Amino acid sequence: MAPVDPHSFTDSDHPLTTHVSLILYFDFPSSTISAATLLTLAAPYSGELTLDTRSLSISAVLDPLSLSPLPYSLSPSPPDPVLGQSLTVSVSDKAQVLILSKTSPASSALQWLSPPQTFNKTHPFVYTQCQSIHARSIFPCQDTPAARTKYSAKLNVPRQLSAVMSAKHVERRPPAPAEAGGACEDSIWCADDRIVEEFVMEQPIPPYLFAFAVGELGFREVGPRTRVYSEATPAVLDAAAQEFAGTEEIIRVGEKLFGAYEWERFDLLVLPPSFPYGGMENPRMVFLTPTVIKGDATGAQVVAHELAHSWTGNLITNKNNDHFWLNEGFTTYAERRIVEVVQGEERAAMNIGIGWRGLVEDTERFKDKLEFTKLKTNQAGVDPDDVYSSVPYEKGFQFLWRIERQVGRPAFDEFLKKYIETFKFQSIDTDTFLDFLKANIPGIGDEVDLKLWTEGTGIPPDAMEPVSDLYSKIVSLAEEFKLGRMPREDEVADWHGQEWELYLENLPKSVEASQVRALDARYRLSESKNYEVRVGFLKLGISAGCREYYNEVEKTLKEVGRMLYLRPLYTALVQGDGKEEDKVFARRVFSEACDCYHPIAKGVVEAIFAKFG
Ligand code: BES
Ligand code: ZN
Repeated sequence: MAPVDPHSFTDSDHPLTTHVSLILYFDFPSSTISAATLLTLAAPYSGELTLDTRSLSISAVLDPLSLSPLPYSLSPSPPDPVLGQSLTVSVSDKAQVLILSKTSPASSALQWLSPPQTFNKTHPFVYTQCQSIHARSIFPCQDTPAARTKYSAKLNVPRQLSAVMSAKHVERRPPAPAEAGGACEDSIWCADDRIVEEFVMEQPIPPYLFAFAVGELGFREVGPRTRVYSEATPAVLDAAAQEFAGTEEIIRVGEKLFGAYEWERFDLLVLPPSFPYGGMENPRMVFLTPTVIKGDATGAQVVAHELAHSWTGNLITNKNNDHFWLNEGFTTYAERRIVEVVQGEERAAMNIGIGWRGLVEDTERFKDKLEFTKLKTNQAGVDPDDVYSSVPYEKGFQFLWRIERQVGRPAFDEFLKKYIETFKFQSIDTDTFLDFLKANIPGIGDEVDLKLWTEGTGIPPDAMEPVSDLYSKIVSLAEEFKLGRMPREDEVADWHGQEWELYLENLPKSVEASQVRALDARYRLSESKNYEVRVGFLKLGISAGCREYYNEVEKTLKEVGRMLYLRPLYTALVQGDGKEEDKVFARRVFSEACDCYHPIAKGVVEAIFAKFG
């Protein structure tokens, strides 16, 4: 017995699931889902089958044909803090197992919003975030990207609501008798006020790409294969439709660079402000934060990123989280290639520059945890949410950019297309990539230190900042701030959010309170509608001890749940000595705001408190 993945109980001696069929009954009053999960293996099998679960209550494990119970055991409490609990089923000559289970209201994948927490205030809302290891908190599964499965799902929800999934919509229809499959009583399943939404996913996906949202949803058509969905609020839908109007062009650019788009639909779902990420690449339907809707270049960039995952991540998937850079590094590279075509070289260079700063900062932050400055990591015993950083994104990007510089763009483009074609619908590791690279670009190992790049810590000497006049100008202006010079109005006249973001990121770590105030007095950054700019400035204000900005800090922490904003603000408040007052403030704000955060975000903020006391 050997694990295949440091984040899963899946055993290498056991067969992998090839299909999952789900029957889900949504109970909003109790914030729970009752599930009947039918797992199918490639062939009949005798022996033990170990699955992942987290905060699930299991009521039965059955042979689906005879409905006779199968012996099973759940690993004893307390659960493993990272992995949850294993569920081991014994089967004899069976290719299918049926499990009846129920989620807990604290399921780590799910955020349940009560009507007052939604835009329209009249109906509840629930949505998933399964990456990296939260699918197991919805239904028992081999929750490792090494196990790609197709799936089908029947969602039973209140009739006023509708459902979307990372799968093809089959139909919306009244519930039928005898189809609950043990998820709940027939009378409950078939109640008058219920509706069933059916979906199928015909392409094999890793479990972290399983996704749904249920609520009062509406949509707008924005392209031949794209609708934008969100809560059915005309103002939100219109703003989203406008923001993402260029999506089809982005898809075409992606196809030109990386090959055919294999997932048929590319729909977008704009979630409530508590969505913990900027975007999540759920296949056929990307999930997005509403904070990207601000009419600048960044909405399209997040779309470009999540779209790029359609090739790098969803077609070729990291085998486990130790190789996460194969997903995010490739996607960051692909995203910037798309941005370069759609928005020009200058924008792409700005993104590389902002990314570079993030990499330098995170490398510094991990100076006591050098393991996480590597591309190929060892995450045994580590919660992936706790070590999330820009390293896999930006060091991964730098590695691929370095190879591109070595071989030239035409050769690298050809290599990328071949890589995608060769490994699509597979889950691979770093060595598989390196072997393929060496086989297809002979001699590359003599020119680029592949071992240093993938196994070494920190930033390799042949990494590089972008070459761009705008980028260099902003960096040098930020350096002049130390000498007391603020940029003049004429110098910032053309600046958008990203220029300010880059400027703020490049300011020295500790600046005088008076300088911070002077900057804000002139440019009003503390109230910026652009969260990247506002958070970048507030972080500076907190470090300089400018308490007059704490109202704005509190407001920000209470209106959004995107971890990109929560992490730096809470960290700035609680890290360092002699910050008792700030710590008390941070804890109070968190206790008042956390009901509106997704459980993943809650966990991440709690980990920040635990680390800095
Ligand atoms: N797949 C990630 C989000 C993610 C990573 C969720 C790890 C859970 C665990 C997604 O593609 C992503 O990278 N989103 C970025 C957007 C960006 C780089 C444009 C984000 O959320 O900030
Ligand atoms: Zn990504």
